[in-house]
Amino acid sequence: MISAIYNRRSIRKFTDQPISQKDITDIIQSGIKAPSSKNRQPWKYIVIQGNAKKEMLQVFRLGIEREENDNALLPLSKQHIAAAKHTVDIMAEAPIIVFVVNSMGKSILTELTPEEHIYEICNIQSISASIQNMLLAATEKGIGSLWICDIYFAYSELCKWLDSDGQLIAAIAFGYPNEFPKEKPRKKIEDIVEWRS
Ligand SMILES: Cc1cc2nc3c(=O)[nH]c(=O)nc-3n(C[C@H](O)[C@H](O)[C@H](O)COP(=O)(O)O)c2cc1C
Repeated sequence: MISAIYNRRSIRKFTDQPISQKDITDIIQSGIKAPSSKNRQPWKYIVIQGNAKKEMLQVFRLGIEREENDNALLPLSKQHIAAAKHTVDIMAEAPIIVFVVNSMGKSILTELTPEEHIYEICNIQSISASIQNMLLAATEKGIGSLWICDIYFAYSELCKWLDSDGQLIAAIAFGYPNEFPKEKPRKKIEDIVEWRS
């Protein structure tokens, strides 16, 4: 497990080797072993491949186009649109995309009381633990992965297309790696840990 933590990388180039349904199921099984706030298990996973993936990519690209031209949800993030387009190209190469939904989530446009906000934060922390478990389980199997939040550049379009209860949180691309990147630099431990006694 420690070696999976150290060897995991974000993979952005995939071979076209398919991933077996058993491997994807095993990976999701690892996801649902994550801890969750009050054991609410607020996660739901939607596995996309084949023609569904082609359709989804079209919807994603239309969403980015809308975000670029009018009615932007993220008007202050226009400088990240080029990277979002690159993410969609990466997703096109990956044989499997898993969308991760917060089944208990409220719309990002809803105003929340502090209590609702904390409930939301706890559920999203639980879902993030589940995503990380999946990335590590994939690494262990020699399968590459990319955690994706550029979905927010086509948020309404993807939510409509997914037609699922709850709130879309992230996507994960899975595939056999066609690159072996070096580790990205990390902050030094002494700069980020404060020891108190
Ligand atoms: C919440 C989250 C969202 C991310 N979204 C994207 C994304 O949309 N596109 C992308 O190419 N990488 C995305 N990444 C990958 C990060 O860029 C990557 O984890 C970071 O650069 C560190 O590299 P490493 O994962 O290889 O250690 C995301 C990672 C996280 C944790």
